[in-house]
Amino acid sequence: MIRAFRLSFILFVLGTFVPTTFAQDAAAGKSAYQQQCSVCHSVDGSNGVGPSLKGIVGSKSGEIPGFRFSRAMKGANIVWDAKTLDAYLTDPQKAVPGNQMPFSGMTDAKQRADVIAYLATLK
Ligand code: HEC
Repeated sequence: MIRAFRLSFILFVLGTFVPTTFAQDAAAGKSAYQQQCSVCHSVDGSNGVGPSLKGIVGSKSGEIPGFRFSRAMKGANIVWDAKTLDAYLTDPQKAVPGNQMPFSGMTDAKQRADVIAYLATLK
């Protein structure tokens, strides 16, 4: 009992302070994604208001086929990984100035890590 409590406390602390390397939760990320991203981003390769995010992790910015990216995003020259996605989702305009994603950012680091863990499952 005490041990279980201790373990959950440790996991809680890791999840809070080291969100990009520990304790990401793709299932929680999926539900956050459905609430906050899916109005614009499909996961099946079809583009909508935003590009499909199928296969986004590991790809280069502005290269999803068939989507008309802004110049800012095309020229950003970013490889989307846990770190660059975290920066972009924290503050899209700061990470890629002038890009046209109408989204102000996610303040919760754990939620960003969860969404990124979910994105990594979209192959
Ligand atoms: C209101 C619509 C909208 C919402 C909500 C939205 N996005 Fe976007 N997103 C866009 C648009 C439009 C672009 C293309 C921006 C550009 O070309 O400058 C984009 C671009 C991106 C890119 C870069 C894609 C690439 O191929 O380079 C990523 C990654 C991304 N969004 C992730 C997310 C995530 C994750 C969420 C939810 C937390 C989200 N977006 C919410 C519209 C949206």
